Amino acid sequence: MSRVPIIAGNWKLFKTSKEAIELASGLLPLVKNKSNVEIIISPVFTVLERVSKVIAGSNIKLAAQDCFWEEEGAFTGEVSPSMLLDAGCSHVIIGHSERRQYFGETDETVNKKLKAALSKGLTVILCVGETLQEREMGKTFDLLQKQLKGGLSGISSNSFDKIIIAYEPVWAIGTGKTATDQQAEEVHAFIRSEIGSFYSSLVADNIRILYGGSVKPENISGLISQKNIDGALVGGASLQVESFAALVNAV
Ligand code: 13P
Repeated sequence: MSRVPIIAGNWKLFKTSKEAIELASGLLPLVKNKSNVEIIISPVFTVLERVSKVIAGSNIKLAAQDCFWEEEGAFTGEVSPSMLLDAGCSHVIIGHSERRQYFGETDETVNKKLKAALSKGLTVILCVGETLQEREMGKTFDLLQKQLKGGLSGISSNSFDKIIIAYEPVWAIGTGKTATDQQAEEVHAFIRSEIGSFYSSLVADNIRILYGGSVKPENISGLISQKNIDGALVGGASLQVESFAALVNAV
């Protein structure tokens, strides 16, 4: 088993095209010699194509932050997996907690999106994670089990080379509160064992599980050195060339 680590930057609702191009071009020389880590950036829809031209031929891959499940039709405001491929994406983030919290995403819609994205050959970063209230009520593991079961419903084990899981405790996102290395590792080990029991130990051994929530250059080493943490999905610290490059180079 060898799981190549991943550092993925979720740019969320930040960066105009000029800023996005500057950020992507600034990263290129600083990470170009990294071959032992997969690097992914995820700008807003409107700049995907332009950023894809900037990173073409490099070791940086492109992800969208969401997609719809239908290919085309009267669905105002949506973007389909084929359109993301067309814009240069290889990856798509699905089920981010902000989509669940503010835009009505459910395990059912996550599942539909995941199936649609996989059917077009995109690699999916499936996000799961509990809120502070759920953690305090002792519901973390039940909730994660529900999100995994729902999100992965009907997905067969041979799709797993195109699935990455991101564990992002909602209480750690943008709050400066990172889960401790042990808290994160405990949940990652749980997710891996759940995948093992839904599928097989081979699938569980190979799937990459990223941690997300206030990851910074100062705390990446402790997280990434945990046995079941295979990288990070980074918000705030992915918005500056120096901090994102430092995260990549810390792996
Ligand atoms: P922050 O790194 O800003 O906490 O965001 C994490 C996140 O939501 C990445 O998807």
